[in-house]
Amino acid sequence: MNLKVSLICSSVQEREALMTSLASTPDVEVNVHVGDAKHLLSVIQKDRPHVVLLNFPASEPLAFEHIEAATLRVPGVLVLLVSADTSIDLLKSAMEAGVRHILPAPLSQASVLSAVEYWHKSESLSARMTDNKGELLAFVNAKGGSGGTFLASNLGYTLAAAGKKVLLVDLNLFFGDMVANVTDRKSAASILDLARQSELLDAALLESSVLAARENLYVLAAPLFPYHIEVLTPKILQKILLLALSHYDFVMLDVGRTLDPSTIKALDLSDHIYLVLQLALPSIQNVKRIETVFEGLGYGQGKLNVVVNRYEKHGTIALDELERVTQTKVARTVPASYEAVMASINEGVPLPILSPRDPVTHVLQTWANDLTPVSVKPKKSWLASLTASF
Ligand SMILES: Nc1ncnc2c1ncn2[C@@H]1O[C@H](COP(=O)(O)OP(=O)(O)OP(=O)(O)O)[C@@H](O)[C@H]1O
Ligand SMILES: [Mg+2]
Repeated sequence: MNLKVSLICSSVQEREALMTSLASTPDVEVNVHVGDAKHLLSVIQKDRPHVVLLNFPASEPLAFEHIEAATLRVPGVLVLLVSADTSIDLLKSAMEAGVRHILPAPLSQASVLSAVEYWHKSESLSARMTDNKGELLAFVNAKGGSGGTFLASNLGYTLAAAGKKVLLVDLNLFFGDMVANVTDRKSAASILDLARQSELLDAALLESSVLAARENLYVLAAPLFPYHIEVLTPKILQKILLLALSHYDFVMLDVGRTLDPSTIKALDLSDHIYLVLQLALPSIQNVKRIETVFEGLGYGQGKLNVVVNRYEKHGTIALDELERVTQTKVARTVPASYEAVMASINEGVPLPILSPRDPVTHVLQTWANDLTPVSVKPKKSWLASLTASF
């Protein structure tokens, strides 16, 4: 779908110049009008655009009244001003009239591109704010075999056992094994089957594509064979995840070690990224490299959580050594429990069911509790209860 952008510029000459420079703007349908704020409503009604860029007529006395009348009559259109004056005072009055942003003059192809970017940002934000009730948690391994799949699946189970509706999403398109971590049943559909039908994607299709593994716990499985993985584009994966977030309390992603445009899109959307490692030199070097990549992607410190798995207190590398080298605090440690974890994975039964007293189960429970805080009402003091009754 092309984005429809309407421009209101001040003169015929400006319109001619804009038409020439905008001819090569891809994926955007642009209509250019000559006029001012009083034409805003008629332009919106005529073009039905997603975005309007109004070259701000500083000398027009009733400009803001016209803008307000238009934004009230036809809400949902992104109205942006283009003005040489980008002062806070102007921004305040403009916002009161329903304008979302002021772009610096002159009105040009660059303004249109900024407006398009602004629209995409506000769209994805509003999609997340209105539909999304869930939290997206991504698990990345510093090295193969670190335990990301086991932790994502079992933390998912622990949250499900606490009454949360949880979806495990296996993004290891080559030989993903999330399903096998929580059940011995097989999934009939995979995330690729869903991606292939993305045009029809809705809650019913998502529901019919996931495997109900345990009570409250569902899995969107990896494909049996990794054929045509290119169907899972970043855009389609975003669509799947946003839909999932509107139906599940937690969506757990097993990203493994694949960083490609689709998994990066998933990481962009994630609330937390858990980077799972073992305290061994090659893993630590990878942590530093992954942290550099994540910094480049603009992920702040709060988003990335380092998790040391199979942690042994008296191992050869100490935790503070890791923290010193990577300049990052360790968010959580998970002890080693070889037999219990191996049995859980081999039987396809989550660890908390198989070994409820295992120290790893205990860590998973604390972790799940931290993700689902319960609000505690402050108790009234005896004095307050006395005065309240008068
Ligand atoms: N806390 C733990 N204690 C003991 N063993 C563990 C622990 N966590 C994971 N393991 C073992 O590590 C192995 C790898 O686990 P898992 O498959 O979850 O790793 P992964 O990082 O997803 O690997 P891959 O790179 O193959 O996707 C499993 O066989 C499991 O038994
Ligand atoms: Mg794995």
